[in-house]
Amino acid sequence: DCSQPEGYKAKMIEQLRPSTREEREKWIQQADYNLFNLHGDQVYIDLLTDSGTGAMSHYQWAALMRGDEAYAGSTSFHHLKEKVQELFGFSYIVPVHQGRAAEHALAQALLNEESVVPGNTHFNTTRAHIEYRQATAIDCAIEGAFQIEYQHPFKGNVNLLKLEEVLQSYSGNVPMIIVTITCNMSGGQPVSMHNLRQLREIAKRFNVPVIINSARFAENAWFIQEREPGYGSWTISDIVREMYHNADGMIISGKKDGLVNVGGLFATNNRDLFNKVRKYILLCEGYQTNGGLTGRDMEAFAVGLNEVTQQKYLDDRISQVYRFGKMLIDANIPVQQPIGGHAIVIDASAFLPHVSQEEYVAQTLAVELYVEAGIRGAEMGALLSGRDPITGNNRPVATEFLRLAIPRRTYTNDQLAFVANALRRIHDRRLTITRGLYIVHEDVNLGHLTIQMIRA
Ligand code: F0G
Repeated sequence: DCSQPEGYKAKMIEQLRPSTREEREKWIQQADYNLFNLHGDQVYIDLLTDSGTGAMSHYQWAALMRGDEAYAGSTSFHHLKEKVQELFGFSYIVPVHQGRAAEHALAQALLNEESVVPGNTHFNTTRAHIEYRQATAIDCAIEGAFQIEYQHPFKGNVNLLKLEEVLQSYSGNVPMIIVTITCNMSGGQPVSMHNLRQLREIAKRFNVPVIINSARFAENAWFIQEREPGYGSWTISDIVREMYHNADGMIISGKKDGLVNVGGLFATNNRDLFNKVRKYILLCEGYQTNGGLTGRDMEAFAVGLNEVTQQKYLDDRISQVYRFGKMLIDANIPVQQPIGGHAIVIDASAFLPHVSQEEYVAQTLAVELYVEAGIRGAEMGALLSGRDPITGNNRPVATEFLRLAIPRRTYTNDQLAFVANALRRIHDRRLTITRGLYIVHEDVNLGHLTIQMIRA
């Protein structure tokens, strides 16, 4: 419902700092055209990520004060554990400082050079951890998942035929399947209950555990309630419980649907798997009842998991993102449809037809938007995919997306309308933009984070 205003009011504010185009030109050049290098106060509206950038509720701030800092057996850990058991139905849980730490432990525990890990479309940190173990990540997205005009209610679904082929071809070498809900790489697209259920059936036949990468699990549940026949009258918590009924374990970055600035966890009912993963968390993260988090982080995380599954919260959240996306669609800006849960993604090649893919068209649009109005988005195209380690060439990518991720409970609809207007202005003069960017330096793993570029 697009007529609903924001479902929160401000209790504490942070002043935004406007800047001039000249300042932004200078700053982005000093940042080597890498938006990760900008300082926070050089950005006016920050849509780089929805990760750890949301606002906590007053209940969460109060929870920080209740945090129990006992090194072992913190009561805050037990609050978190109880909430995870209730929501997801898993009894063994271990916290980590953020999502990729759980990916790291899982990859260390289960993968070797022979391993193959299929999924819908792996997020880049997941893929990087798989590849860091010399294992192979295989995406099994459905046909059309990255075609922006292709309408499908569950564009994040796993392509089950392709999955079965992978399981057959690499039989014995698939230690897990990772399903990412919602699917970040395709723009926050959901996975249906039906797909999760069928996937579990197939996985069982091949005796392979299913792990749900759960960063945006509540948003996924909302889409099931909204779009999947039979779930309209279910509560969000019941849908969540049912989703995880079809999984052997979960990893989660709490920085998204945990509604916290830091935190994550791994959970399962499989004692063996738990012990294997815990080993690496004890080595690298912290004791098993904190995983490197403070007691207060865990206390706020437990409250966040409760708030994120409230119907009203999710209605407000997803309609805000939808309303923003609709403004762009109405302006003929090419965006992934249907609009996803946490972000809108723009097809940069369609937006800037005169910039070649070799000149990093999505990054070019990201820089253009920053210089235009101080808005920071994130490139999800050739830069993010990285270079082939052997040839040094760009890896082939399906799309050149610019993602504008919406932090939770943070920006107003007016601020998002301001972003839409900036995009409209660039769109009006898009044919005059013909030059892109070159790479001058890049590291090997997750190289886009520290990349240095110059204007072509
Ligand atoms: N999995 C998914 C689906 C994610 O979106 C992220 C992070 C991670 C794992 C890693 O979690 O950052 O807590 O270590 N996504 C952020 C983003 C960075 O901007 O989409 P993390």
